[in-house]
Amino acid sequence: MNTQQQYAEYMLPVAAKTVEPIAVASAKGRTITDTTGKEYLDCFSGISVVNAGHGHPKILAAAHAQMDKLVHCCSYVYQAPAVGELAQKLAEVTPGALKKSFFGNSGAEAIEGAMRLAKQATGHREIVALGYSFHGRTLGTLSVTGNMARKKNNGPYMGGVAFGPTPYCYRCPLKLEHPTCGLACAHALKDTIKQQTSGDVAAFLAEPVLGEGGILVPPGDYFRIATSIFHEHGALFIADEVQSGFGRTGKLFAIEHYGVEPDILAMAKGIANGFPLGAFIAREPVSEAMQPGDHLSTFGGNPISCAAAVANIEVLKEERLSENAAARGDELLARLRAFQEKSPKVGDVRGKGLMIGIELVRDRKTKEPADKEAKEIRVRLREAGVLVGVGGVFGNVVRLQPPLSITAAECDRAATELERAIEALG
Ligand SMILES: Cc1ncc(COP(=O)(O)O)c(C=O)c1O
Repeated sequence: MNTQQQYAEYMLPVAAKTVEPIAVASAKGRTITDTTGKEYLDCFSGISVVNAGHGHPKILAAAHAQMDKLVHCCSYVYQAPAVGELAQKLAEVTPGALKKSFFGNSGAEAIEGAMRLAKQATGHREIVALGYSFHGRTLGTLSVTGNMARKKNNGPYMGGVAFGPTPYCYRCPLKLEHPTCGLACAHALKDTIKQQTSGDVAAFLAEPVLGEGGILVPPGDYFRIATSIFHEHGALFIADEVQSGFGRTGKLFAIEHYGVEPDILAMAKGIANGFPLGAFIAREPVSEAMQPGDHLSTFGGNPISCAAAVANIEVLKEERLSENAAARGDELLARLRAFQEKSPKVGDVRGKGLMIGIELVRDRKTKEPADKEAKEIRVRLREAGVLVGVGGVFGNVVRLQPPLSITAAECDRAATELERAIEALG
């Protein structure tokens, strides 16, 4: 049996039928190689994970060295030195006064823990999230996810959750236009609290750039207005940086673009360049609300993943990968916006750094989502040797989220193939 046959026979259908029908044998830098030897330029990074590039030698060396010493001993003991080192490093590199970390294994687990901490710290019980948000696939994180396609077949969900209007300027839920809207969607969060909660709000949970929702970039003042509303109500701000963190948007954390300091920040994906790890970090005294025994994860803070994460953060800094993401991202956005002028299929081009979405429509006026076409483009690009993502609530957004080490020439190649594929739609 080959790999595809084994998946079909022995794995749940959710995994047995992959989005990209290729069997990956190895990957290095920005190049993925399948079992037939075909090479692909990776423009999706394993869903925005391998920010430093596949198989980065320094990160692998740190993980190998740790593996030889200690693989697992659980958080019942101090696992020296990688776990403590990572905690200290996160306190240094995360924005504002964020200081104390908890380590789990995934993004969803980070969000679950962050919500528990917010509830314990405030004594409040409700959460406000955003429409079109995505926070994970556990029952708790699906409860705060504003997207029916992800939630279907599993309701009813956790109560005490309200959703504010999505800051989605291209399809404004309030039918307004930025900047004349005066950021009405941010101010409307007051109504969300008044109309949809009992006033007992523990946290506002939001992605600084909404990834799965279709790379939605809230306007510059959005989080300043939103967080002040929630702080006035005694609620905390949890920034979900699971997808936007670790240099992806051109800063180490996307919330830094907004000049706002979260009370709790959740991270995963890019934290250890592919080694499984999730974390949340909180400022004091919020962090002190959890006492010994209140929270634990058996595999959480695995020493190998933590050693890889420490090396990963050093690599991001040494190789100036946030800066490269900002520069390559600006170039790509400028080029794709110029292409948008002459291509009626491109409704919107948006993003920050190397978190870029190209929203395809059948008609510029009606903005009818071109979802099948987006999938067709993914297939054409794969045939041309470029792997991209497709997402968004309407399934019509082509996502470019390559490793942050991508070169200008590689961006050029990806953009050329993408433009060619869009033009071929006719
Ligand atoms: C913003 C955001 N939060 C949480 C998650 C869940 O992360 P994980 O799949 O590691 O549980 C994701 C995954 O895509 C995400 O994009």
